[in-house]
Amino acid sequence: MVYFTGANNAADIAFKNQRMPTSGKPAYQLDINKLGVTVTSNFDEPAFNAIQTLFQLIRIDTNKQMQIPFAKIFDHARFDYRGMHLDVARHFFPVSFIKKYIDYLAAYKFNTFHWHLTDDQGWRIDIKKYPELTKTGAWRNGSIVGRYPGKGNDNKPYGGFYTEAEIKEVVQYAKERYINVIPEIEMPGHSSAAIAAYRWLSCFPEKPTEIPANMISHNSIDEQKNGRIKLVQETWGVFDDVFCAGKDSTFKFLEDVIDEVTELFPSKYFHLGADECPKTHWKICPACQKRMRDNNLKDEHELQSWFVQRIEKYLNSKGKTMIGWDEILEGGLAPKAVVMSWRGEAGGIEAAKQKHAVIMTPGNPVYFDHSQSKNEDSVTIGGYNPIEAVYDYEPIPKELNADEGKYILGAQANMWSEYLAYPSKVEYMLFPRIVALSEVLWSPKEKRDWKDFERRLPGVFERLDKEKINYSKAYYDLVATVLPTENYQGILFDLKSKNPNETIFVHGGDNVFPYTSPLVINKSQTINATLGDNKSQLWQKFVFNKATGKKINIITEPSKSYPGNGAFTLVDGIQNEKGLAKSSEFLGFSGTNLDATIDLGKNMDVSNITLHVLKMEGSWIYLPGQVEVTYIPYHDPAGISPDIPIEMVTATINPNEDLNKIEIKKEKLCRYIHLVAKNYGSIPAGKPGAGNPAWLFVDEIEVH
Ligand code: ACM
Ligand code: ZN
Repeated sequence: MVYFTGANNAADIAFKNQRMPTSGKPAYQLDINKLGVTVTSNFDEPAFNAIQTLFQLIRIDTNKQMQIPFAKIFDHARFDYRGMHLDVARHFFPVSFIKKYIDYLAAYKFNTFHWHLTDDQGWRIDIKKYPELTKTGAWRNGSIVGRYPGKGNDNKPYGGFYTEAEIKEVVQYAKERYINVIPEIEMPGHSSAAIAAYRWLSCFPEKPTEIPANMISHNSIDEQKNGRIKLVQETWGVFDDVFCAGKDSTFKFLEDVIDEVTELFPSKYFHLGADECPKTHWKICPACQKRMRDNNLKDEHELQSWFVQRIEKYLNSKGKTMIGWDEILEGGLAPKAVVMSWRGEAGGIEAAKQKHAVIMTPGNPVYFDHSQSKNEDSVTIGGYNPIEAVYDYEPIPKELNADEGKYILGAQANMWSEYLAYPSKVEYMLFPRIVALSEVLWSPKEKRDWKDFERRLPGVFERLDKEKINYSKAYYDLVATVLPTENYQGILFDLKSKNPNETIFVHGGDNVFPYTSPLVINKSQTINATLGDNKSQLWQKFVFNKATGKKINIITEPSKSYPGNGAFTLVDGIQNEKGLAKSSEFLGFSGTNLDATIDLGKNMDVSNITLHVLKMEGSWIYLPGQVEVTYIPYHDPAGISPDIPIEMVTATINPNEDLNKIEIKKEKLCRYIHLVAKNYGSIPAGKPGAGNPAWLFVDEIEVH
């Protein structure tokens, strides 16, 4: 140990510049021994990284002495691109917090800050040539309350923006920490705020902004009555009113904006968004349709591609490389574009195969706006990306060969701020997952070891405590797993915690007992469990019926983003009550059907089958178009059972009904129930996400 005891006896830190055996890639060596600390590196950036490592090693002992263990560390990053994103449009964060965020990135050796500056709910960067962008576009009259679709509007004006001077200050601050700042200016979709400022950017300048009646603020209702028809959005989602691709004035505007933005950001990358752009307006806009005819574009996806390629050319002419979300693959990739793969890994895989550079940011597991805990009590957008999944993430998909894998520049976690209204919530979502992602980006694949990371996590938490950072303690959560029993009679409820010092207690009425082994549940009941003195707690309600705990098979796998607990999710006795806030209770199918067969174990009298579903059209989740149930009796080979025919019942679902259960009634003796819920199909025009495959969300099949 080196003891730093104050000025009289301070150890030296020496910096040496020297070639490293990394073929010119930044690398450092950190030597800590009785002579002091030596940092050897080939560039300044890795020397800075070495100091971050040094900070991580510091411990304060019980005598308040600073201790650093002797060490010899040679280190260089596995990936060149190590990014964190922050959305400042849905909620705005002041410069003081942006700097703090950059400090966090630097501390964990990230080198890129992706600043999502514009969206439907606010334009956050001052543009001299278009002052209304911030005068008007940076402010909304209110925001929805709670989780989308929410409980009305808070009617509180909300907004903010960064001045040119502030942007420069942030960029300089980041540079001093070896962090490159990439600006994102969203186009052609997510553009409501710009359109609110300059309505001629819309295909239909005279068409009022649509905000659903139960989500709009009082002020906005009044303003629209008084003729201010284009509004900054007050709710979350995807909106049809987008930049017109037909009018040249749109491109003049965007080029002017790019001119000013590129002046402020020295980054060679410029992010133009290009995700989630509905084609609804383009399909009926005369200017957009003329543009398609003039350029022989066969559909609106090709129009989007044409739009993106036109902007790319402009960016290239200014020496910039364009980044876009993976929708830029649709209709043809712009020649030099870098693809940010967010809808899973497929876009990244396809782009790499097309020899385009890729940054991996798949929703699962690196959307840091998703929950870290299954018992999450704060509102999040849903999903479940625990630290284990982040640590386990491999940025180079196995579908790529070694050559194609070289196109993966690195990875990034995204921090969308719909449900992050305050800096402390951003910290909570960031920590400790950023620490896991840092190792994904730095460590060689074969050196990554979850057990070793776990051993070091308490040290990470200690440092976060010391720095008074608000972080999630979900790692220590009481975690429940529900499993079938071996004989399909009931359910096993397994409880675990990684907190070694605490006992788990199960509470049943007045009875409290320490948990020792999985509980067998074979009737409807609610289990309440706590970890130690309420460090973590959970309730689980089970509702039993003839299908609960029975054997079930499904043919089509659900989406990787909503895999639930496999097919068993549908017969686990857990009925969803909190919608997407408990998304792990669902199986989600994007464009595909649920095709399930339940084995009741023997012929049983059945009269009612109930399929539990979710309908949330704003989130692209639709009722199934049709549900088909086939009743299959078991014919005993010994010929004891009567010869009962197989029968099928089909129910067509009215998509306009607000259902969360679909009941099929029929009296029947049968052993197997084959249930097919047909996906709604393509989202209809005029609805959010029009043209995309609808989601089908199911959480339980009840048999009575
Ligand atoms: C995105 O999450 N819409 C890129
Ligand atoms: Zn148009």
